[in-house]
Amino acid sequence: MLGDVLDVLACPVCGGGLAVAGQVVRCAQRHSFDVARQGYVSLLSGSRSPGTADTAAMVAARDDFLSAGHYAPLAARLAELAAAPSGGVVLDAGAGTGYYLAAVLGETGARGVALDISKHAIRRAARAHPLAGAVVADVWHGLPVKDASADVVINVFAPRNGAEFARVLRPGGRLVVVTPAAGHLASLVERLGLLSVDEHKERRVEERLGRWFTEVSGERLEFGMTLDADAVAAVVGMGPSAWHRDRADAPEASGVSGAPAETVTASFVLTTYSPCLSSKAIHDQASYLTD
Ligand SMILES: C[S@@+](CC[C@H](N)C(=O)[O-])C[C@H]1O[C@@H](n2cnc3c(N)ncnc32)[C@H](O)[C@@H]1O
Ligand SMILES: [Zn+2]
Repeated sequence: MLGDVLDVLACPVCGGGLAVAGQVVRCAQRHSFDVARQGYVSLLSGSRSPGTADTAAMVAARDDFLSAGHYAPLAARLAELAAAPSGGVVLDAGAGTGYYLAAVLGETGARGVALDISKHAIRRAARAHPLAGAVVADVWHGLPVKDASADVVINVFAPRNGAEFARVLRPGGRLVVVTPAAGHLASLVERLGLLSVDEHKERRVEERLGRWFTEVSGERLEFGMTLDADAVAAVVGMGPSAWHRDRADAPEASGVSGAPAETVTASFVLTTYSPCLSSKAIHDQASYLTD
């Protein structure tokens, strides 16, 4: 619930602490933000949406696919790598439906903050775990989160902001990033002409993160999944190709529906980083806001 993590959140306008006042969340300077009926709050500070929010259809497909447990081995491994102590804080940047955040929090007693730019995703994330609060926020913009307040930041197939991730981590905190590995869903990529992992883009992103973080460990996780036609439609509908396909192009229309179940390989890289600079040092670098 939002109330469990309000002490971690910061006003996106002035950076001050927030308190609940009826159906709004408000700072001492009276900047106020409505709490939606579903229990999430939007802390966007008037910044315009970058246009990368997952759509309602993409979020529904993601929820279907993840709820069926196809990526459960990834969630289990991430829960080990990103575990936080009871009462600690895990921040999920680009949380989607909150599936991975819920797995990481599990029964640990740690609290969680799900951040995502998509209202459709965050609505679901608000129900993902009893100790998680859900916030609409733009990861590219400053995070509405206090300095040095998180034990762990997780980032699963979502936009990264190295400066901000480093700022919000406590001393000794860590960042765990999951990216698709080359070969992820390869048989589907080939057969359905889906967008594949852009290795150059990945490398550029990692270089940017490298300014703020040092890699502590990295591993590859690969497993086979048996997917029926509905699961194939869901995994296509939740992925990057969904942006580039209109309905006529959807898998139902391209002969996937009714096809027999097939084995598809999922392949990920999980990388753990620790910040190279303290939160204070980052503040002292005048350039960080514009990075
Ligand atoms: C591929 S999905 C991954 C979601 C979730 N981590 C998962 O794996 O189930 C990428 C997510 O990033 C969100 N997103 C895209 N741009 C964003 C931004 N600038 N700030 C915050 N979230 C963003 C999308 O709305 C979407 O939910
Ligand atoms: Zn304020």
